[in-house]
Amino acid sequence: MPNQHDILCAITWQNDQLHLLDQRKLPQEHQLMALSSATSVAQAISDMVVRGAPAIGITAAYGVVLASKAAYAADPNHWQTLIETNMQQLAQARPTAVNLVWALQRMRGCFAKISGNPVPSLLEEAQGIQQEDIDANRQMGDLGASLLPSDCQVLTHCNAGALATGGYGTALGVIRSAHAAGKISQVYADETRPWLQGARLTAWELLQDNIPVTLLADGAAAALMQQKRINWIIVGADRITANGDVANKIGTYSLAVLARQHGIKFMVVAPTSTIDMNLESGNQIIIEERAMTEILMIGGQSIAPNGAKAWNPSFDVTPAALVDVIVTEKGVVKPPTTERLATLMK
Ligand code: MRU
Repeated sequence: MPNQHDILCAITWQNDQLHLLDQRKLPQEHQLMALSSATSVAQAISDMVVRGAPAIGITAAYGVVLASKAAYAADPNHWQTLIETNMQQLAQARPTAVNLVWALQRMRGCFAKISGNPVPSLLEEAQGIQQEDIDANRQMGDLGASLLPSDCQVLTHCNAGALATGGYGTALGVIRSAHAAGKISQVYADETRPWLQGARLTAWELLQDNIPVTLLADGAAAALMQQKRINWIIVGADRITANGDVANKIGTYSLAVLARQHGIKFMVVAPTSTIDMNLESGNQIIIEERAMTEILMIGGQSIAPNGAKAWNPSFDVTPAALVDVIVTEKGVVKPPTTERLATLMK
């Protein structure tokens, strides 16, 4: 019997279309959205139909396949010029996860070698990116799990699982591998306001794999640590800069500060496609700010008085000094420093 994570796929290419599992509706509804244009792919990324740094990159890569199909049909001799508007649209769909521009650059790297119809080569590349991501997650799962003690109780934030990647997950990949090795006795998951990725997606993924999961309100994490109920925090990342600073879902930084205060270890799990060696440190990362309504309303219902304003940064930056270990598919960086990351990325 395959595990649920082996069949759980947020992104599939079928019948010349991209199919995305609409993550805004999970876990109540399982709706697939079929997309056949790059513009609709960019919109789906902006609207959070698909989310999670590696998943956004993979989706954008398939977006390039759809863009090339339309451009080649319009003018077979100038498809590379015609595709540019779509490349820009895709690049701007969300600003913080570097995997998006990384995947677009990888797709662009194929253009020069293509003669004739670009779709078969670009589709092969996009599928290659997805498969490599799954392989990287498996590798990180083993590496990360080997760092954990037995009878481990962990806290995770947001969703860094199969849904956020090509499959298996980064932070949840480590949790899955550690659970399979008999090391995990309890997973706590922050609900993760305002999109509730922890409550809706992480809890759903873990329950289907029979991994014990307990949800908590984000504000309860401090008390959880004070009561010594966890020994590791394990999260994913949207962008890691050359010095090891980590951008991840809003609330990650407060967890890292709390972890240091309470003597709890802090692990970041991310493929090397999430490492941005072009930025020296985290204060150069563009942090996405989303609509106020995401804070002021829940499920279409206002929860704040008319006229109230809201601040809604989607990510924050955890300084490298608060991170005990970064786990990548190429190896473990412990603790992260500019020198160690440069060696890893050589
Ligand atoms: O806004 P989201 O849901 O795209 O944010 C996702 C996260 O912050 C994840 O932790 C990160 O992308 C890593 S996913 C493997």
